[in-house]
Amino acid sequence: MTRVLVVGGGGREHALVRALRRSPRRPQVLCAPGNAGIAADAQCLDVAAEDVHGLLRLAREQRPDLTIVGPEAPLVAGIVDAFEGEGLRAFGPSAEAARLEGSKTFAKDLMREARVPTAGHVVFTSYEQAEAQMDCASYPAVLKADGLAAGKGVVIAHSPREAREALRAFFLERRFGDAGERVVVEEFLEGEELSLLALCDGENVVPMAPAQDYKRIQEDDRGPNTGGMGSYSPVPGVDSDEIAELTAAVHEPIVRRLRERGTPYRGVLYAGLMMTPAGPKVLEYNCRFGDPETQAVLPRLRSDLLDLLERSLEPGGLAGAQLDWSDDWAVTVVMASAGYPGSASKGDRITGLEGVESVDPASADVGPVEVTHAGTARSGGDIVTAGGRVLNVTGLGPTPEDARSNAYASVEKINFDGAQFRRDIAARAVERVAT
Ligand code: AMP
Ligand code: GLY
Repeated sequence: MTRVLVVGGGGREHALVRALRRSPRRPQVLCAPGNAGIAADAQCLDVAAEDVHGLLRLAREQRPDLTIVGPEAPLVAGIVDAFEGEGLRAFGPSAEAARLEGSKTFAKDLMREARVPTAGHVVFTSYEQAEAQMDCASYPAVLKADGLAAGKGVVIAHSPREAREALRAFFLERRFGDAGERVVVEEFLEGEELSLLALCDGENVVPMAPAQDYKRIQEDDRGPNTGGMGSYSPVPGVDSDEIAELTAAVHEPIVRRLRERGTPYRGVLYAGLMMTPAGPKVLEYNCRFGDPETQAVLPRLRSDLLDLLERSLEPGGLAGAQLDWSDDWAVTVVMASAGYPGSASKGDRITGLEGVESVDPASADVGPVEVTHAGTARSGGDIVTAGGRVLNVTGLGPTPEDARSNAYASVEKINFDGAQFRRDIAARAVERVAT
């Protein structure tokens, strides 16, 4: 029997675990560290996702046939290189290829070399140097810490005063430590955002279904940025021709360039795009599955995820791969704790989870509702909140409206103190498909 280890403990990892369980090969699924929901679907092992040494020790003991790395931090820290050094197969890019997410200046340089459309930018390496330029910048301006900042390293400044405030936080207060030692200041782009993920084997690029996510905490995209408050897939107007064009413009040139540099990209390559009036432009690359996009995308995948991930480890292994998608729409609503995205409340009892999902997760069928856990823990006989984002409720259905009402009907049944969720997830998609 194939043994698979999933690294991480959020909604993305729960969605990966669920998709692996649907594989006809019936793999045995382990997860480190997992969460209270994942524990019902996989054997959870208590090692943190960032603890590369601990995970390597765990893998030596457990000997998984394949390890799938969810979050970016261990990838950027070189977990795949460490595993491969011991003959353990791991899905995800090497540290060198993961710099695409780990360093915004690296990503910008590579985009220039590969002629990928993106916002114009300037790099600054000191407060004094940057500060002096802020009066003549155009506003809004986008300021980004170079390194990993858990999704909080981007500031949209509307005036030189706001820009200087952000520069002070990056350079002088060192809010993101070394990650803020270099700062990219880039042009503000307007349009709709689109997340397009693709599986890569170092040579071939196989796009997945497009998705849209919702970054702001409040309805109508107001309030601070979060890790993501919801998502849906597919995206109206983004058909297979458009996907092929986007892949050719933003994924393939990067994969080609990394291969030429001798650091081939294997794993999933996530392009965050802005669909501007002047055409699509890349906002960022991520070296992993998106969260919460994965929670909306994977329930629609009919192909065997385990086979696909294994094929991406072999050079050229994805040649000719065709992904089979359900015609259903999927809408994911994130339920978050009180206080999120600031310091979030913990330990609140969650009720109403029983019976929300009607399909046995071990069967090959999905939904109409899939609930994946993020920040949850067990406390005695209860499931309690244990983080900012708590649950992802994915509804599926033949129209965006059906998917949306399946998701929200279930959200209404689930309760915990101070639960926050947006009521407008996929509302635009419903409107667009109706007209
Ligand atoms: P990033 O981590 O680079 O994707 O940035 C996080 C979010 O900030 C993006 O999803 C966008 O909503 C926004 N953003 C980043 N770069 C730009 C830009 N150049 N113009 C407008 N919005 C941006
Ligand atoms: N949904 C945004 C991300 O995964 O980075």
